Amino acid sequence: MSRIFSGVQPTGNLHLGNYLGAIRNFVSLQADYECIYCVVDLHAITLWQDPAELRAQTREVTAAFLAAGIDPKTSIIFNQSQVPAHAELAWIFNCVARLGWLNRMTQFKEKSGKNKEAASVGLYVYPTLMAADIMVYKATHVPVGEDQRQHLELTRDIAQKFNNDTGKEVFPIVEPLIFGAATRVMSLRDGGKKMSKSEPSDFSRINLNDGPDLIAQKIRKARTDPNPMPGPEVLTPDGSAIAEDQLRARPEAFNLLAIYAALSNQPIASPLNEFAGSQFSAFKQRLAEIAVEYLGPIGTEMQRLMADPGYVDGVLADGAARAAALAAPVLAEAKDALGLLST
Ligand code: TYM
Repeated sequence: MSRIFSGVQPTGNLHLGNYLGAIRNFVSLQADYECIYCVVDLHAITLWQDPAELRAQTREVTAAFLAAGIDPKTSIIFNQSQVPAHAELAWIFNCVARLGWLNRMTQFKEKSGKNKEAASVGLYVYPTLMAADIMVYKATHVPVGEDQRQHLELTRDIAQKFNNDTGKEVFPIVEPLIFGAATRVMSLRDGGKKMSKSEPSDFSRINLNDGPDLIAQKIRKARTDPNPMPGPEVLTPDGSAIAEDQLRARPEAFNLLAIYAALSNQPIASPLNEFAGSQFSAFKQRLAEIAVEYLGPIGTEMQRLMADPGYVDGVLADGAARAAALAAPVLAEAKDALGLLST
């Protein structure tokens, strides 16, 4: 049986990268799979979070899930800390994962920066908690953006080692689902960096709760290059993607084109054909219109939901109860495989 799990951290504003790389795909997968979507607050606290902000952000991510179209009746929406089985299985996985595996994780290197000694132990073992999130439901598929690929490989390694060590096929080998026209949305200010919540400049990203004027302004100011817009000659021979060397030469231009394709639900070839040879200004104006049209209703619905925290908390409580019921037998099976007695 297939089961989907994915998570989003309640840290900072959700942006277009989170939406196009992940949340939009969460919505479309509901039609075909049993889906579990988690606001990963225990991951958020691997870096210090102001408690009031964390509460607000947890509700905001939940509101974004709902506003984007995740149905809380058919899918499960909850926050991680309400289901203790995640943290329990994470401890078990801390005893399965090897130091060498965690030392190779690029995200720890990025997030801990120069002063590794001052990083929390939680930040170091972040990926084992992520593996536990997925495996505690025996999820088989995980929709994420490109930046999470390495974490999912580690999840596979942990599951495999657990199964080998215990001689029992407890955990499935998970498959990443990385799809859509924008699996790695880049910063609007620097095409070499991914769009990120932690980037200091707010003009580097489009937030899901930005109003129409701000969205248009950010797109207008987005960095491009002095050349006219590229055309279909930059595509790979099968026409499905931009050739690597082209992408490297003009990352900002192709980032905006990918966003355009994603938001207008067209293949990347369409805007290349439409805007070949023209100036960026006309393209940007059209992109701003499309972005406002697409994101406006999501932002408005998020505002409406944020004004009703009682409803949002009710969704999380209901989701947590359903998630806990699914997690309990899996955790029991894992404990039993290890020889941990339960009465
Ligand atoms: P987080 O909160 O950083 O991001 C949430 C989702 O958004 C995707 N994403 C992007 N996609 C395309 N372009 C971008 N610029 C971009 N930025 C972010 C991420 O790939 C992610 O899918 N470790 C995870 C949270 C997590 C999780 C899990 C995910 C915890 N447990 C279990 C899946 C399964 C994270 O920090 O995502």
